Amino acid sequence: MPAFAVIGAQWGDEGKGKVIDFLAGKASVVARYSGGNNAGHTVINDSGSFGFHLVPSGICWPHTRNIIGNGVVVDPDVLLKEIADLKRAGLNVDGLAISERAHIVMPYHVLLDKLEENRKGAGALGTTGRGIGPAYIDKVARTGIRMGELLNPEELAMRLPDIVNHKNEVLTRIYGASPVSIDTILSKIQAWAPKLAPFIKQVEYIVEDSLTRGENVILEGAQGALLDIDHGTYPYVTSSSPTVGGALTGLGIPPRAFGGVIGVFKAYCTRVGGGPYPTELNNEIGEHIRNKGKEFGVTTGRPRRTGWFDAVAGRYSARVNGFDSIVLTRLDILDGLNPIKICVGYELDGHRIDRFPLEGGALERCVAIYEELEGWPGTTFGITRDRDLPKKAMAYVKRIEALVGAPVEIISTGPKRHETIVVNDIFQK
Ligand code: IMP
Repeated sequence: MPAFAVIGAQWGDEGKGKVIDFLAGKASVVARYSGGNNAGHTVINDSGSFGFHLVPSGICWPHTRNIIGNGVVVDPDVLLKEIADLKRAGLNVDGLAISERAHIVMPYHVLLDKLEENRKGAGALGTTGRGIGPAYIDKVARTGIRMGELLNPEELAMRLPDIVNHKNEVLTRIYGASPVSIDTILSKIQAWAPKLAPFIKQVEYIVEDSLTRGENVILEGAQGALLDIDHGTYPYVTSSSPTVGGALTGLGIPPRAFGGVIGVFKAYCTRVGGGPYPTELNNEIGEHIRNKGKEFGVTTGRPRRTGWFDAVAGRYSARVNGFDSIVLTRLDILDGLNPIKICVGYELDGHRIDRFPLEGGALERCVAIYEELEGWPGTTFGITRDRDLPKKAMAYVKRIEALVGAPVEIISTGPKRHETIVVNDIFQK
């Protein structure tokens, strides 16, 4: 029963979309397990160039069933737009299936996300403003609305006033904002229901059946391990579980289904939004990486904070997730830089530490300790065989492998599907 979790190993934006599109060539199912349309997955292949926020990144393969799991929060307007865009590009989306237990991001969640960020002022987290945190709050508070309820809009209409009245109390009394209209929300629900109903399924059984047949299933992560609500740099995190545990609960599959856990690392680091970041480069090298790597958010367009590869954080991420394999992306962005630095430890309050600090606030005080590696001549862009990589580029890859503690099995050398080096076939391990 081989399920392969593809997990963002840093602060998100590691290039999971491209990796999943590549791996999906050998998979029957791609199932997204967490997050919402705070994510932005870029996929470029023969079908075109896509920026997915909710639709799983295997959708471009006709043989692959794409699933949105119960751990995801879904903004129906965003999903319907993505479906329409895909159809316009000539892709078949009939096989898309959405868990009836996935929670809906309602318009008031988006409002509350923005109002709460404004209230925090200088202490804002820098959320994507897509209503993700408030939707997960309602899920945990047991006041959320799930996709399956769209199949029974009359019953939902009866439940709605109590929920919306409570939101309006919060909106008006706490934030001094205008209330939302129940009628407007009802008419949205009535518009969503018939369009989304054909996709709403008991997806757990689709995944289980595929696994029982022995087919490869890819569990698509969103965001990254360091943004995990439990294991990330709290409170500067997202409100879901991008780490491997989220793949189990976000799809309802057992640990024995796993064939491998794949950590996707960028060859350097980026972070969007607030929070500690020991290897951040606030200089011309950081600017160079941002411009060359087009490091601007797919979802918000915000410039990403750039920095050197952080092997302390990487090792931590590998420990939390139990990576069997690493996919290293965007190696080509480091072409021409010399030296290239890797963070191998932190100085915290005058002492060297080699482990990622778990105590809140400590990471803010950490100063990166670097090892320098020589840059390589020429370009790695578009290379498809590891033997064609410059020796020093391979030395950089091998150093990351040794420091993080898992083998690099795939190297991505460009945004297109074929700009990929397969060092070892992950599915054959
Ligand atoms: P939220 O998920 O919108 O609540 O945002 C919480 C934090 O996670 C912010 O720092 C966001 O910038 C960050 N974040 C959320 N989704 C992504 C993503 O897909 N990539 C990178 N950062 C993200």
